[in-house]
Order: sequence, then structure tokens, then C-alpha cells
Amino acid sequence: MLRNKKIILGVCGGIAAYKAIELLRLLTKSGADVHVIMTRAAQEFVAPLTFQTLSSNPVHTELFNLIAEREIGHISLADRADLFIIAPATANIIGKIANGIADDMLTTTVMATKAPVLFAPAMNVNMFTNPIYQENEEKLRRLGYLFEAPVCGSLACGWQGEGKLAAPETIFEAALAALTEKDLAGRTILITAGPTREEIDPVRYISNHSSGKMGYALARTAHCRGAKVILISGPTSLIKPGGVDIIEVTSALEMQNAVMAHVSECHVVIKAAAVADYRPLTRNLTKIKKSADSATIEMIKNPDILAGLGALDNGLKPRPFLVGFAAETDALAENATKKLKEKNLDMIVANDVSQADAGFNVDTNRALLFFKDGSSTPCGLMSKDQLAGSILDHVVARLAQH
Ligand code: CTP
Repeated sequence: MLRNKKIILGVCGGIAAYKAIELLRLLTKSGADVHVIMTRAAQEFVAPLTFQTLSSNPVHTELFNLIAEREIGHISLADRADLFIIAPATANIIGKIANGIADDMLTTTVMATKAPVLFAPAMNVNMFTNPIYQENEEKLRRLGYLFEAPVCGSLACGWQGEGKLAAPETIFEAALAALTEKDLAGRTILITAGPTREEIDPVRYISNHSSGKMGYALARTAHCRGAKVILISGPTSLIKPGGVDIIEVTSALEMQNAVMAHVSECHVVIKAAAVADYRPLTRNLTKIKKSADSATIEMIKNPDILAGLGALDNGLKPRPFLVGFAAETDALAENATKKLKEKNLDMIVANDVSQADAGFNVDTNRALLFFKDGSSTPCGLMSKDQLAGSILDHVVARLAQH
């Protein structure tokens, strides 16, 4: 996702400095070429060698380093950057940059760069709420600097409150968003993800193997591309994507209610969820005890949420652009195109869930995309993040004519 991107990671002196190591790992794993600048205080918390080893690049600590100045220098480092991230960013560094002070390697390089700058602040809650800090942040935001706000929690200083560095995954997503073209700006996209659970009694349920990974990848990518995203999620153990409105549901009926409550505000609906087709006719209020040698559960059909959306036509405005998924184990193209037609969809993503590298609970997928106009296109084996990008490319291309 970040191949060929040059990122400068500025690390300041704070106990959260160790979390910048995890952020560095996420960035390099995504293909970014990361150059780390550490302030003097940061080196009190983590050794530069750690960052050097993990980034495979020399760590910059001194403004007037003869070798570094000859080879790269703070100006050329600033010029070459696609993105500048400062994590953790202290009140001190934010104060300095907001007031034009450039007296070390980090502040000088920030001052000289034309790349977007993303701050992830971390500090004591009273420092964070101090009007001087707030004014500095406000000034930088006004000037176009980006911020990933700290979260609430117990702080290393013993205080409880806002000031804890955002999770490395959240900062990583903000970095991705900063580097992504906003071709979905102004669009609202509703995405469903994960399985639904249909309860039998207070301790048992019927569900399926969906992990939610495909829907979450779509939500993250659509957010990065500028869309307002409403993610309606069945039960999953995935990390929640930042910047996305998440509505958690359990059963198919709850998912249907949530979808119908939001559909009128959406330009696109992508139904990646694996909705249970049936639910138990009755839910026992107490645990069912074992008695006979066999048991039968009477099931009743759940509403088909996607087909319901396909049938929507209020005559006032066009229904949203509808994207369905078809999870198949055989006759992939035939079954998928049948669903496309019967549910009145604009596009369907068909995948063969019987393959080990596609479908449920894996990080990769291979899919065939079918469209309303009869055309189709294959997407070979790729990560679910890459497939999310391809699906959204097709949505963007067709949305203009919808
Ligand atoms: N879907 C839905 N509501 C349901 C069942 C499915 O909205 N009650 C949606 C899924 O989210 C998916 C598409 O319909 O986008 C196809 O789901 P899939 O499980 O592949 O097919 P079904 O329509 O359920 O048909 P079958 O189980 O017979 O293959």
C-alpha cells in the first residue's frame, strides 16, 4: 500500500516513544521507505539503533552531522518526503513548530518540508487541555497540518484522561489516508461486514465462518479515499477502523434494521456480510437441556436485506449503487450472475470460498466482478486490502453514471 512512498518519522521524547517502533514496523511492512529523526529527549527512551535496524536507514539525530549533511542533509530529506509523521509529538515540539522555532534536526526538517505533516500527540492530560497547547494545535490545524488525536486512558504520569498516544494502527491508517487520492469525497458508503449470529438459547447460536476482514478492508479503504463510511458489523474480533461510524449488530434482523435506518443517506451500499439465511423459529429464554438422542431446531427464513434494497424505489431519487457478494463453492459465475439479476444489483463480487486462499477467515482473496451491463472482470489472488481498492475503483468509475 505504501510502496515507493518516502516517509519521515519524527520521534519525540515521551514514554510513548516505544510505540513508534510498532508504527515503523507497520509502515515498512507496507513497503514505505522510512527515515527516522529522533530528538535528543527521544533517545533517552529508545536507542536509535532500534529504529535504524527496523527502518534499514540511518537514524538522524543531529542537525550538524558532517556525514549526514554530506549524504542527505535535512533539506534534501525534507524535499524527498511524501509524508511526515511525528509520533509521539510532545507539547514542546508542537509549540515550537506552531511558533516557527527550528533549532534541531526535527524542527528544521518539518519547517523545510512541503509534504503533509501528521502529528500524533501524547502528553499529560493537563498539558493537553492547557489553552496554550490547544491554541498551538488549533493554529497548526488551520494551516493544514494533520492530527491524530490522543485517546483517553491511564497515562504513564499516573493521571487518567486524554493524552495517550493513538494506537499505532490508527496512526498508520491516518498516514494512509493522508497519502490517498480522495476520489470518494462527498460520498456516503454503507458497508456491512462479518457474520450474523442467530441465537438458539442464552448460550448457543447458529453462525458462519465469516471473519469480517473483507468488509473491514473496504471500510478502511473507502475512508482513506475520502468517503463518509457507515460500517454495520456483525460480531468480529477485528480492530475497529478509525474515522468510520460503526454500528454493531448481532442478528440478521438487527442488521436489516440498521441498514434500513441509514440507506436513505447513502450513495453506495456494499453488502460484504455473510448474513444467516435462517434463524431459529423461537429463542429459548433458558438453556435447553439435553435429553433425547437427537434434537431438531425449527428454522425460519431471514429477510434478504440486499434483495430488499434492490427492490427499493421511492420514485424520488435513485436507489444507492448496490454491490453484493456471492460466496460460492461451485458454479461461481452462474450463481453470482443469477444473484446480480435477482437482487437487482449494480455489481457483484463473486468468490469461491472452498479455496484455501479465498473467502472466509484468510487475508487474501481472488474474485470475479460482474456488472449490471453484462461485463465482468477477474481479480487474481491479492490481499483483501488490494481487492477492496479494486472494488472501489470500479465503484468510482460507475458511480458517475449511476
Ligand atoms: N444477503 C443479504 N441478506 C440475506 C442473505 C444474503 O443481504 N439474508 C446478501 C449478502 O450480504 C451478499 C449477498 O446477499 O452480499 C449474497 O449472499 P450469499 O450468502 O452469497 O447468497 P444468498 O443470497 O444467501 O444465497 P445462497 O445462500 O442460496 O447462496
